[in-house]
Amino acid sequence: MSLKEQVDITRLPQHIAIIMDGNGRWARKHGKNRIFGHTNGVSSVRETSEGCAELGVKYLTLYAFSTENWNRPITEVSALMTLLLKTIKAELKTLLKNDIRLKVIGDIARLPVGVAKELNEAMARTANNKRMDLVLALNYSGKSEIVRAVKEIAVKVQKGEIAPDAITEEVVSNNLYTAGIPDPELLIRTSGEKRVSNFMLWQLAYAEYFFTDVFWPEFTREDLYKAIIDFQNRERRFGKTSEQLVTK
Ligand code: FPP
Repeated sequence: MSLKEQVDITRLPQHIAIIMDGNGRWARKHGKNRIFGHTNGVSSVRETSEGCAELGVKYLTLYAFSTENWNRPITEVSALMTLLLKTIKAELKTLLKNDIRLKVIGDIARLPVGVAKELNEAMARTANNKRMDLVLALNYSGKSEIVRAVKEIAVKVQKGEIAPDAITEEVVSNNLYTAGIPDPELLIRTSGEKRVSNFMLWQLAYAEYFFTDVFWPEFTREDLYKAIIDFQNRERRFGKTSEQLVTK
């Protein structure tokens, strides 16, 4: 049986989040510069997006640029921005054809004007698509996202729109970038690193984590299937006992 056939499509995670890591090390392994690694990472973005949409995954979130990534050499940052711009332009047709809606989480206003404009346009053009949401985390930081939500809620309290006692988990969720998007059930991180690195700190509370040594540019659909199969073989208890789950 192929790996794809081993995926139980009746028990898919509806939201998969991925920390795409190892572009630089993959490039070094091939005697090339880091930018070569990022460029090749784009084909894995395509593979994974297509693979998820084809299976019926409803949300795919990719960590493409963290707020900490601004600290990289300026040449690498601008190459990443150019790559992003080029990729959005080139892939818009594919997103439309495949009924995929593009979303962004993160502080988009601080991205280069051209990039922000292209992203806003792509989001508007794909806004009515239904098959899958492709969510790009750009200039994203999990802690900043929570701080931003706290500030928004504080303003609502100050205006008397909400009482402090009425602040629930749902209220917090609804003030995050991901408002309206269900939490990821599966987090994948490539390249052998085993950290969350400030990614979706609130949303990953109950996610299963899957770590693979594969560098992002060499991550294929088969690797995606492996992660989903592994996820499906785990027991998700949400704090309950195994016995309680049987009777559920
Ligand atoms: C991590 O590898 C990768 C990134 C910081 C950038 C990811 C970007 C892409 C795959 C291309 C553009 C994306 C889209 C969505 C069009 P690293 O540089 O941290 O690798 P290293 O840990 O080996 O140095």
